[in-house]
Amino acid sequence: MGKVNVAIIGGGTVGGGVYQALKKNGRLIASRLGISLSVRSVVVRDLQKTRNVKIAKKLLSTDWKSVVEDPKIHLVIELVGGVRTAKQIVKKALALGKPVVTANKALISEFGEELFALADENNTNLYYEASVAGGIPIIKVLREGLIGNRIPYIYGILNGTCNYILTRMKREGSEFGGVLEDAQRLGYAEAEPSLDVDGIDAMHKAGILGSLAHGFWIPPEQIHVEGIRGISPLDIQFSEQLGYTIKLLATIKPAKKTSDSCAIQISVCPTLVPNHHVLAGVQDVFNAIFIGGDIVGETLYYGRGAGQDATASAVVSDLADAALDLKHDTHNRIPPFVPHSEDGIVAPWEKTVAPFYLRLNVVDRPGTMSKITAILAESNIGISSIIQPEGHEGDMVPLILMVHDASIESMNHAVELIRKLKVVRGIPKVIRVENFED
Ligand SMILES: NC(=O)c1ccc[n+]([C@@H]2O[C@H](COP(=O)([O-])OP(=O)(O)OC[C@H]3O[C@@H](n4cnc5c(N)ncnc54)[C@H](OP(=O)(O)O)[C@@H]3O)[C@@H](O)[C@H]2O)c1
Repeated sequence: MGKVNVAIIGGGTVGGGVYQALKKNGRLIASRLGISLSVRSVVVRDLQKTRNVKIAKKLLSTDWKSVVEDPKIHLVIELVGGVRTAKQIVKKALALGKPVVTANKALISEFGEELFALADENNTNLYYEASVAGGIPIIKVLREGLIGNRIPYIYGILNGTCNYILTRMKREGSEFGGVLEDAQRLGYAEAEPSLDVDGIDAMHKAGILGSLAHGFWIPPEQIHVEGIRGISPLDIQFSEQLGYTIKLLATIKPAKKTSDSCAIQISVCPTLVPNHHVLAGVQDVFNAIFIGGDIVGETLYYGRGAGQDATASAVVSDLADAALDLKHDTHNRIPPFVPHSEDGIVAPWEKTVAPFYLRLNVVDRPGTMSKITAILAESNIGISSIIQPEGHEGDMVPLILMVHDASIESMNHAVELIRKLKVVRGIPKVIRVENFED
């Protein structure tokens, strides 16, 4: 097979990028692979739409079904986004024995196991490098580069939009809402931003990474997720005073000894990261993933996690693998996912343990502190530091406590009691702290 005919289903941001990348580097790719990749069809919804990447008119179609069924098409790239139609497209192609490349993290995270089984039944493969961290080849890292390692921890900044917003809030002292509007104007955030700012996008990516690292598929509903809407400039400022930066961090590591020994903790939530840690320095739209291997030690991967060209680069890498597999008839050379941990489980979030940052709004009068510290002591929660910034007007002042390791359950219980104190006003703010010590 010297030539592979490709259909791109979805000619938007990523689809346009893939088309453009193949036009630009098609010859180079062909000489590296010994196979030429020929785009035979690009499927879109609206033929009249003005596109920032010009696609030859004769290639455009709106009928994904007949394109996928076309016997001249050897390989299908699904880039329509969403889950419903995307799943139909992927299932149709796999059922026909055609390999599929996708960038769709929601689809893989939610339906990965079902689709991998379908690929296997039909002696073909499903490739999804672009579904996590765009241009960073992190799926290859976990499946191939680190195959000889157990993976004790993965920490990731997996959503460029959130990282951009948090970076600007810190740099400028601005509120979340204003920075979000700016990010939308600049094209760094969608008009409907919830998938990004509520942590859903990062949750899907974390689920995929966690599953590959731990050998059992982790569905989205088992992942604790919190977005960044509740982060205020005050939290960013106080964290800085304490030597930390707030990041939307994906954390995948063994749950602490208090729970089941083989259980893992997997979450995506705002987290205080020490300023001296490399992840604290990841700015703007960049992604970074910090992975430990029991043989290799610490490793770090950094780059653009989204955008037309970065994502296209990952899709083309999968295309190359898929084309080589077609040529050599090795569809199962690198299976999409190999389950290898029968007793793997996700620890219930309430049982997981971490240090915390707690910000309270308290009445500035003697005795306030002792009431709060008494409740924490009763819950067996130790305090590592306290700051009460000067210069606040009125009789209310912020009080910030850093507490040692506590389970989410006991922390929630203590905070509920603290909230009910007459000297405490408003909702306490609790943010997880990650000191990268275990
Ligand atoms: N954008 C990124 O930076 C990025 C990064 C990593 C992964 N991804 C993933 O890549 C996928 C595509 O994202 P995107 O940003 O490229 O989306 P997009 O810009 O909205 O493009 C979607 C494309 O699919 C077409 N389409 C949608 N429904 C269709 C249907 N029923 N029939 C035919 N065509 C249909 C649209 O047609 P029209 O053009 O006519 O509307 C458009 O060309 C998603 O799964 C996303 O999560 C994106």
